[in-house]
Amino acid sequence: MAHRAWFPERLTGRLVELRRHVPENLAAFERWYSDPEVARLTRYQDGPMRREEVERFFHLRVVGPDSLALAVHVLETGRLIGTCAISQLDGDNGSAMYHITIGELDAWGHGYGTEATRLMLGHAFEGLGLHRISLSVFEFNQRAIRSYVSCGFTIEGRARESIWRDGRWWDELMMSILASEWSDRSTEPRTPAPRERARATVES
Ligand SMILES: CC(C)(COP(=O)(O)OP(=O)(O)OC[C@H]1O[C@@H](n2cnc3c(N)ncnc32)[C@H](O)[C@@H]1OP(=O)(O)O)[C@@H](O)C(=O)NCCC(=O)NCCS
Repeated sequence: MAHRAWFPERLTGRLVELRRHVPENLAAFERWYSDPEVARLTRYQDGPMRREEVERFFHLRVVGPDSLALAVHVLETGRLIGTCAISQLDGDNGSAMYHITIGELDAWGHGYGTEATRLMLGHAFEGLGLHRISLSVFEFNQRAIRSYVSCGFTIEGRARESIWRDGRWWDELMMSILASEWSDRSTEPRTPAPRERARATVES
């Protein structure tokens, strides 16, 4: 069974540090998830979460005893900018789902989320010994798709026209990465994937 003890106190990268969430982080969650732009990218429902929904989510999924969520902090300043998690841990099949929200809008596009995802994948595959990590992402969220591709995720399916947003239908993409793909990548030099390669995979 999933247990918080499976997660280290912190995972440290070059740009960010992932730390256990503390109860005081609730205020940041309330701010992040009441933002319409964050809601547009992360929610099936049209519009932000209500305050009581955020509180329930935080207590159950973020600081709850079985949660596998970590806070994303900027390494240099310690600033809390987001959260990432694995969920639906399936021990029989070695699989789990991955989620990330950088909730501070001015922290988007600086590589923080991408590094947080790499740290989580490293822990999931090398620490927890998982076999497969999957996620879903809305087709219009190109920043997220590029970030996931650069971490090694592959598009494996799409739920066609399942999201109504901004006055039109969009697909929801299913992406995954396997342990073997992660270990192949981790023996490669640690330079970012070339933009062209990422773009080609997104468009295939
Ligand atoms: C998605 C998210 C985790 C990405 O993390 P990030 O640190 O902002 O991403 P990066 O700065 O590493 O950028 C990732 C890629 O997107 C590109 N990018 C940046 N801004 C972009 C934009 N406005 N549109 C399209 N691509 C963009 C970057 O150039 C980079 O691509 P490259 O590797 O080919 O150069 C983060 O932005 C986030 O949490 N956003 C809000 C919530 C969300 O969308 N969560 C995911 C739901 S599935």
